[in-house]
Amino acid sequence: MQAKPVMPGARFDFEKFRLRPFIDRLIEIGEVQVHEQPVSLARLSAIIESTPKATLFRSVGPQKFEMVAAVSGSRRRLAAAFGVGEREVTHEFMRRMNNPQPVIDVPSGDAPVHQIVIAGEEVDLTTLPFHLQHELDGGTYISSAIDYAVDPATGRSNVGCRRLMLRGRREMRSNLTGPTDLRQIYIGCVERGERLPVSFAVGSHPLDYLAAGLRIPGQEFGLVATLRGEPVPMVRGITNGVPAPADAELIIEGYFDELGFREIEGPYGEFFGYYGAPHIDPVFHVTAITMRQDVLHQSVRHSGSRMGQTETANLGALNAESAIWRTLRAGNIEPAAVYAPPAANGRQHARVAIRRTVPGQARIVIAALLSIPVVRHVFVVDDDVDVFSDEEVEWAMSTRFRADRDLLVAPGYPGTYMNPTAGEDGTMTKAGFDLTAPFSTGIESLVARASRFEAGTTRYRTVRQALESGPKYFAQILEALGSDDGREIALELDSLREEGVLIRLENSGQWALRKSPEDSSTSQSAAATD
Ligand SMILES: Cc1cc2nc3c(=O)[nH]c(=O)nc-3n(C[C@H](O)[C@H](O)[C@H](O)COP(=O)(O)O)c2cc1C
Repeated sequence: MQAKPVMPGARFDFEKFRLRPFIDRLIEIGEVQVHEQPVSLARLSAIIESTPKATLFRSVGPQKFEMVAAVSGSRRRLAAAFGVGEREVTHEFMRRMNNPQPVIDVPSGDAPVHQIVIAGEEVDLTTLPFHLQHELDGGTYISSAIDYAVDPATGRSNVGCRRLMLRGRREMRSNLTGPTDLRQIYIGCVERGERLPVSFAVGSHPLDYLAAGLRIPGQEFGLVATLRGEPVPMVRGITNGVPAPADAELIIEGYFDELGFREIEGPYGEFFGYYGAPHIDPVFHVTAITMRQDVLHQSVRHSGSRMGQTETANLGALNAESAIWRTLRAGNIEPAAVYAPPAANGRQHARVAIRRTVPGQARIVIAALLSIPVVRHVFVVDDDVDVFSDEEVEWAMSTRFRADRDLLVAPGYPGTYMNPTAGEDGTMTKAGFDLTAPFSTGIESLVARASRFEAGTTRYRTVRQALESGPKYFAQILEALGSDDGREIALELDSLREEGVLIRLENSGQWALRKSPEDSSTSQSAAATD
């Protein structure tokens, strides 16, 4: 989608997708730890990592920056970004993806992010809160900014998410080594001896981060609008002409120079929870910094021992889940539920609940999902297990999984970027875990849950009347009589037993009335020996 000319009279609510009001919303729902006391830049990352919540710092470093971190670090916070419940978030994500929205150019004078403009010689990156994020990182970072670029060769717009390493007062390095579109665009520029202008937005809504994580063949700026669910106002860079959201907190404008990959970037704590080795990357020259008057700075929680709390994992999980839904639906399989646990870095583990119709269906799900490059382990459960619950999946693993029968090992898949399990030949092994129960209708295949009753459903006055309508579990008798107790039911059953008319069904243990005197294989006396 190309940036469009200004629509006459178009009005934007520049606060709606601004980071600051979103943080206010997160505070309301108890998702933010607020630090009122001053904190030094060097101490930030330890505090950020000490809590599963987002952190809001009121005063960071000598410049007293207001700064927020780990905004997208939980499913609850991402659900709040979409305005839906945690279980609906991927459905909402997919729904919005099916409803593309446009990009609209707004003039600089309307753009809140142009309230303050620092350009040329005035630019000094050390006035921004670059900080050491992981103890062995190669330097201080702003991580992560959302980059906006237009391929000079094709006119295609590209959006991604990139870390920025402080190099000097007006230069940064970034990681363009990973297999991304921005890397390809830059390589093309270097081959033609051209610079690549890029604008980095710092301080963005989680939906913009989700858009940045997507890769599509066409115009990408529109992805930001599409995930927001409405047009995105974009303003052209004052010094590089590259559009970026006019409602961002801060934008760093500039260009990657034409000299190519020439300086070491990293090491840096990566999205698998390990350090990524240093690699050779290009240099970015800053030509302007623009920001809101009351700018809220942002740091992204990238790596660490608790991957489930990182933003890389939580954002990646929604991408993985939508890929899983799409893949299964393409194979005419409608799963009951899908979850990609962020602790497994949000990409590698797929949990799928299925409503089984024929034996062996779990195998079809496993085979389909192993075709998704990033998915390495697939866990399939019946829909009586909650895929969002570690406890229930662990339980299914312990009671339904038999390794000699239910494990599918699939070696020889191409190793994905930075995957720590890839072997020297570059391949990795995938596996499927069939955690579904053996096909059976017996009571032993049913999950024992607490009984729940609907009030006001009295249909019979006596147990005898209830059983005349057919065999019943104890709970069904309780419900049929509208009982709120149960002990009186036991006494009524005992009277029927003494009368000699009560039997138990052998497999289910349901209570029933004897149809004839010969009806004894399931007699109450047999059950009485239980
Ligand atoms: C928080 C975060 C930081 C990221 N940092 C980088 C990075 O520095 N370099 C990189 O190549 N990819 C990084 N990624 C992944 C890319 O943003 C992602 O692959 C994106 O789709 C690339 O976009 P592109 O292919 O359109 O350029 C990061 C992702 C997240 C969520």
